[in-house]
Amino acid sequence: RTAFRWIWRLTYLSVLGTFVYIGYEIYQDRNPEPQVPRDPSKKTLVILGTGWGSVSLLKKLDTENYNVIVISPRNYFLFTPLLPSCTTGLIEHRSIMEPIRSICRSKKGPVTFYEAEASSIDTNRKIVKIRDNSDIRGDTTETEVPYDMLVVGVGAENATFGIPGVRENSCFLKEIGDAQQIRKKIMDCVETAAFKDQPAAEIDRLLHMVVVGGGPTGVEFAGELRDFFEDDIRKLIPDIADRFRVTLIEALPNVLPSFSKQLIEYTESTFKEEEISIHTKTMVKKVTDKAVEAEVSKPDGTKERIVFPYGLLVWATGNTLRPLVRDLMASIPAQKDSRRGLAVNEYLVVQGARDIWAVGDCAVAGYAPTAQVASQEGNFLARLFNNMAKTAELEERIQTLSSSLNLKPGVNSADVSREIEDAERKLQRIKDIKPFHYSHQGSLAYIGSEKAVADVSWFNGNVASGGTMTYYFWRSAYLSMVFSTRNRLLVLNDWLKSKLFGRDISRE
Ligand code: FAD
Ligand code: NAI
Repeated sequence: RTAFRWIWRLTYLSVLGTFVYIGYEIYQDRNPEPQVPRDPSKKTLVILGTGWGSVSLLKKLDTENYNVIVISPRNYFLFTPLLPSCTTGLIEHRSIMEPIRSICRSKKGPVTFYEAEASSIDTNRKIVKIRDNSDIRGDTTETEVPYDMLVVGVGAENATFGIPGVRENSCFLKEIGDAQQIRKKIMDCVETAAFKDQPAAEIDRLLHMVVVGGGPTGVEFAGELRDFFEDDIRKLIPDIADRFRVTLIEALPNVLPSFSKQLIEYTESTFKEEEISIHTKTMVKKVTDKAVEAEVSKPDGTKERIVFPYGLLVWATGNTLRPLVRDLMASIPAQKDSRRGLAVNEYLVVQGARDIWAVGDCAVAGYAPTAQVASQEGNFLARLFNNMAKTAELEERIQTLSSSLNLKPGVNSADVSREIEDAERKLQRIKDIKPFHYSHQGSLAYIGSEKAVADVSWFNGNVASGGTMTYYFWRSAYLSMVFSTRNRLLVLNDWLKSKLFGRDISRE
């Protein structure tokens, strides 16, 4: 009984503690402390983008040390790992968006934000040209922003490899708008398939959802789609539910190439149970408004052409460079051999450029283009810039002390010398910042039917696991990673709402 009483007390205290913590976080968000006044004598640090790399930098940066300007066409941060869940309405899109203005306001030093696209970077004049591409334009739509230091964190675009018809006919899955478009199109296909007197072949085409690219984006989307049909559509529109099909097309011999072999096999067998057909060694060559044409490599070395009629096509074949990054690379001779992004050194400095750093998917630092890498790079740059500011401050102090030592009669030279030594020691410690080192925490992916796969780093080794327990791990890991308390509560609420009432299938 004593043990029971203690367990009860501890549970009570931890629940109470959680509520107090959440309450405190909400209070702080709603009542931020006054910001220190802007100091024009500080260096101007311009950050391009509001994605994983740039926002991680901003969150950890001591903004009172710089005049910080953030420029991005997106005035929010997007928690991409939960984006596939928005395509079916499991999670509402606003639950994974965090307004950049709230992040800027939560900083001690003021941060200026411009909702604009950086159109070009002049490295000689140290200027970024920006353009307002929003629907409502003022008299000024283009202008220049000078910088002392520049961080490029603009991410990447969807790769289409120039395959005809892709841009015109497919949906991508990178931004909130893409997820909303997919959600709308899925329901459009369903309602059109349920239209009176619809021919059987047309129903089959409309309910055939094709996903191209068997990387994590394609796999997670296929899993979410299957769940949506099994959990909701089958119950609400049973007459057409059996005609629903999901096909995943992948050019390589297997899906999820970056995961361990046993998890690839587990994913493929789970997809088989979920009746998601996987076509590997199948390269899409052409897309029309109603069909995907692909070439299959057969075991005997021959190739066969197959056609997949589709209702919805989602294209998830990875990343390519944004025009801004391509132009910047072309203007820097040292970047001429780099193909996949801005080549950076071990301190994330863009090679061949002065005072420019790059983070995330637009930078080539030898790691995969993931949120994990981008956020660690952002954190590293924040540490670097915080240290640089402290270095400048200490150097200035050493200079002032040294001159007082030489010039001012009557100062206690022993005291001043001690202070100088102290400052020099601190300076040395700060200057010893180690180069960027990426620490891989593991890879996680949702594969449908409340199952997930995880390759997790564990004491210099790797633990591979798949199944329902991994799914709960996946959910709690991502919930803990969501940047703000507000978003965490919204995501929790969405999960609960979908569990209790099903997904909202109304088409906006
Ligand atoms: P992004 O996060 O893409 O941000 C780029 C920013 O730059 C955006 O704010 C954009 O608006 C802005 N921008 C674009 N052009 C300009 C311009 N010209 N001027 C100024 N700003 C500009 N990774 C994981 O590690 N785990 C996951 O579970 C995971 N899931 C994912 C799920 C999906 C559906 C997708 C698409 C990706 C996922 N990723 C995941 C990958 C991860 O999202 C990216 O690696 C990460 O977003 C890269 O961060 P970034 O800061 O480089 O770019
Ligand atoms: P990806 O680059 O990982 O995979 C794209 C796949 O498309 C490749 O396997 C490629 O072989 C295939 N492909 C290319 N052209 C093709 C064609 N014409 N026909 C058929 N298949 C074709 O891209 P993805 O999945 O968008 O991921 C991008 C980045 O984001 C990766 O680094 C990934 O690790 C990360 N990410 C991580 C997630 C996670 O950890 N859960 C989720 C989503 C993305």
